[in-house]
Parts: sequence; C-alpha cells; structure tokens
Amino acid sequence: MEYIDFGPNKTKVSKVILGCMRIPSKSFEDVVSLLDVAKDSGINFLDIADCYSNGKAESLLGEALKGKSSYRDSFFIQSKCGINKDDDGITYFDFSKEHIIKSVEGSLKRLRTDRLDCLLLHRPDALMDPAEVGEAFNTLRRDGKVLNFGVSNMNPMQIRLLKSGLDCELCTNQVQMSICHTPMLDSGFNANMTNNASVNHDGSILEYCRLKKMVIQAWSVLQYGFFQGVFVGSPLYLKLNSVLDRIATEQGVTSQAVAIAWVLRYSPLMQAVIGTTNPHRVMACAKACDVQLSRKQWYELYLASGNDLP
Ligand SMILES: NC(=O)c1ccc[n+]([C@@H]2O[C@H](COP(=O)([O-])OP(=O)(O)OC[C@H]3O[C@@H](n4cnc5c(N)ncnc54)[C@H](OP(=O)(O)O)[C@@H]3O)[C@@H](O)[C@H]2O)c1
Repeated sequence: MEYIDFGPNKTKVSKVILGCMRIPSKSFEDVVSLLDVAKDSGINFLDIADCYSNGKAESLLGEALKGKSSYRDSFFIQSKCGINKDDDGITYFDFSKEHIIKSVEGSLKRLRTDRLDCLLLHRPDALMDPAEVGEAFNTLRRDGKVLNFGVSNMNPMQIRLLKSGLDCELCTNQVQMSICHTPMLDSGFNANMTNNASVNHDGSILEYCRLKKMVIQAWSVLQYGFFQGVFVGSPLYLKLNSVLDRIATEQGVTSQAVAIAWVLRYSPLMQAVIGTTNPHRVMACAKACDVQLSRKQWYELYLASGNDLP
C-alpha cells in the first residue's frame, strides 16, 4: 500500500479507500471481516455517506467499528452530506447550515463516533450560500466534530464560489473516474477540436484539483456508465480485458488491480475508492499500488477501452 498526506495536518492515508456504499447488502459479521481484511491490506481510509441506504450503511459500519475498540482510530472516516431524501420521496441538494450540521450529528450517532475525519459536500447545491456553508464548517470544526472538509462531483467554478465563504481548506474532490469513464480526460486530449470527445463537461476539474493540490478521489473505479456494470471480465470490453489480463499476468496481480492502478497513475495526489464487499477482492484491489504502469501502458489501456487520440 502507498500513502499520501491528507489535509493541513498531513495525515497519512492510503491511496486505496474502502467505499462502504454497498455494505447494507451484507451482515454485521461480513462487514467486520471486510474491515479486518482492509486493515490487513494497508487500507486505513473508509468512505461513506449519510444517504447511503438512508443511513443504514453508516449504522452498520458504526456497529462493526464498535465491535473492535481499536478500529475507530485505525481508520480515517470520511462521510458526506448535502443530499436530502425526504419522506415524500423528493430528493434534493441542501447546503443550508441547518442541514449540514444536522446531517453530521446524525452521521456521528450512526457511526458511534465523536468526530468525522473528513466531511464532503456530496453533490453541488445550486442554491448554496458560501458564507452559510462557511458558518456550518466553522461550527463543526470548533466543536471538534469534523477535522477536514472536501467536496464531491464539483467543477472548478463551483469550488471557487464555495471557497469564497470558507475559512478552511477543501482537501479533496471525489469524482467518477475509471478507464471506462474518462470524459474529464477526453476533453483535454481533444482540446480545440469539434468532435464529441472535445466537449468539456467539467471545466477541467482534474487540472484545477492538481493546481490547488486537492486530492482527487475517484469513485466507481471498476464501473462503466453510471453504475451500468463492472468492465473487468465484461464481454463488452474484450480488447480492454485482454490488455488488463496481459499486464496483470506480467506483474503477478489481478486485472482489477491493474484497472485501479490506471486511475492512481494519473497524479501523485490520487485515491481510488473501491466498492467491493468481498474480502478477497479487497485484497486484490489493494495490490493496485504494487503495479507499475509505464506511460505507454497507461495510454494503451485508455485506447483499449474504446477511446481515440487525435
Ligand atoms: N461521491 C459520489 O457521488 C459517489 C458515488 C458513488 C459511489 N461513491 C463511493 O465510491 C465507492 C465505490 O463505488 P462502487 O461500488 O461503484 O465501486 P466499484 O469498485 O467500481 O464497484 C464495486 C461493485 O462491483 C462489483 N464487482 C464485480 N466484480 C468485481 C471485481 N472483479 N472486483 C471488484 N468489484 C467487483 C462489486 O461486487 P462485490 O461486492 O460482490 O465484490 C461491487 O458491487 C462507494 O462505496 C462509495 O463510497 C461515491
């Protein structure tokens, strides 16, 4: 496992993060095993959100963490807020001070902890008042309830607008990225052209994060589309899988480790949020840091997933 410095306190965190969105399909014992394996594999960072299965994911993780007293301090716990799911079925985004603070209090209760190591704003709220978010963050920081802050799925102008009201650093931006989900890269390769790939959907968010030294956390590192499926082993991606398999065999790891290594190779300040609930796969994914991808191999994988270069 490799580690990077995270946030103003330069906390050493693993480049591979265990995402806990899918744990509600598992039993308490399964989740404890998942944490055991993650820890043994060098993973010390957990990602979750208040809205995953309406809080059930946080509750289950909280129970599992409570089971072993040392586990709370073994893991850097990051949760998210800002997606409001009301009882009438309407889902909307909410960065009001009241919602942010209430959400964190709910997360702390469910996770059975006194602090979040990081809080992300989950998806941009068009109605946000940056100064109000700043007040919420200051209150949470002052009370020791949240130690670091970040965002998710935001473009550079949204981050700049938000920052205008904040007194604290935004340490990370969590965005969707995999070999089979590359719009953030495609537009850069096709700058100043008129093909579909040249369309810049995100305001050059990757470059912005690198300039600002924000950690880029990639979610759904093994999925194509928006949760359409896993590309590793999929007959839809035969060419990609043959390159993944070849590199995996050469380096003595699995194809999913190579696919995750491809994401991590993008920049030194990258983390990959894996979502498997299978302990064997956690071990296999954690090996991504052992893979050395040359520049040529990185581009070969990009092309094998169906992309072109000008
Ligand atoms: N910020 C955001 O908006 C956002 C959005 C979505 C997700 N996330 C975060 O990102 C995390 C990861 O997302 P994800 O679950 O979509 O990631 P993923 O790692 O790309 O996908 C994991 C899913 O793929 C399945 N899978 C099938 N074959 C696999 C294989 N060979 N290796 C590994 N997994 C395989 C897993 O099933 P098994 O469990 O059976 O292995 C699991 O259902 C989430 O837990 C969450 O923390 C954030």
